[in-house]
Amino acid sequence: MEKKIVLITGCSSGFGYLSALHLAETGFRIYATMRDLNKATDLGREIARNHLPVSIMQLDVTDLKSIGLCLRRIENESGKLDVLINNAGYGIGGFFEDLSDREFRDQMETNFFGALNMVRAALPLLRKSDDARIVNISSMAGLTTTPGMSAYNASKWALEGFSECLRQELALHGIKVLLIEPGPYPTKVLTMNTRFAAKALDPNSPNYRYTQAVYEQYQRRNETLKSDPQEIVRLMEHLITAKNPRFRNIRGPGAKMRAFIHRYLPWCCNEWIVRKVIFGKIEGAIKRQ
Ligand SMILES: NC(=O)c1ccc[n+]([C@@H]2O[C@H](COP(=O)([O-])OP(=O)(O)OC[C@H]3O[C@@H](n4cnc5c(N)ncnc54)[C@H](OP(=O)(O)O)[C@@H]3O)[C@@H](O)[C@H]2O)c1
Repeated sequence: MEKKIVLITGCSSGFGYLSALHLAETGFRIYATMRDLNKATDLGREIARNHLPVSIMQLDVTDLKSIGLCLRRIENESGKLDVLINNAGYGIGGFFEDLSDREFRDQMETNFFGALNMVRAALPLLRKSDDARIVNISSMAGLTTTPGMSAYNASKWALEGFSECLRQELALHGIKVLLIEPGPYPTKVLTMNTRFAAKALDPNSPNYRYTQAVYEQYQRRNETLKSDPQEIVRLMEHLITAKNPRFRNIRGPGAKMRAFIHRYLPWCCNEWIVRKVIFGKIEGAIKRQ
């Protein structure tokens, strides 16, 4: 049987890396892309060791030229695209007051406009598939909010709204748009790839102690995280093979509960929880300093 063609962004680590290997092992032809090919060593070794049908290509989701080159190569080699997985992303922490305009816009450029760039460029090739799908990796942060994450929240909320609308438009042409909304999983997005607003690290910022306390709280949570990123990878496989997969897919520790509270309880309950649970802990941490 003809292998389905899958393009994944952000394959240097995390969900992208793991899904490239897993989906290739389960019978897909993968174009695994990353913005820095110097980070391709581990993936390249695994592909060679297991003789997997994966091509690694350079692609930065904010760079239209690199996107165009990749899609041209896929068109020449495969003639169509069955699945686009918009996975590339990062999170920048810092209270809004401490985020520069550049830092905020860069976050939107990657997490939101990056996905738009990919969809726009890939649509002509997706139309050549008889069962095309777009999987957007959003986040629990696209359904809820956390102080100190306004740029990340905004980028993922934008991706959610865009995906809803796009789903309805592309359904007219038989293309499925699907969302994954992970809670926290131990990948580099929570460690090495976490960025901070420059001013958030400045002790003169009026938010400095709050930012530090939030960060310490995140670190404590992340150190004890037991969630398995392969859950998200298996979910990707399900979404691109099931006949009628769900549009929204929330996974991970606490994610469904947080989304439920945000969506169904009155807003004053959300505010109370944020103040008591999050800021309450921060106040405690500050008093202990
Ligand atoms: N892990 C979680 O807890 C979690 C929860 C909710 C949502 N997510 C989402 O899941 C997605 C994957 O993250 P992950 O958890 O697998 O973290 P990760 O290990 O940090 O992977 C992120 C990937 O995105 C790439 N990337 C960043 N900016 C890019 C750009 N401009 N162009 C192309 N690639 C770019 C990174 O490349 P470099 O190595 O070059 O930086 C890396 O390959 C992200 O969209 C993230 O927001 C993760």
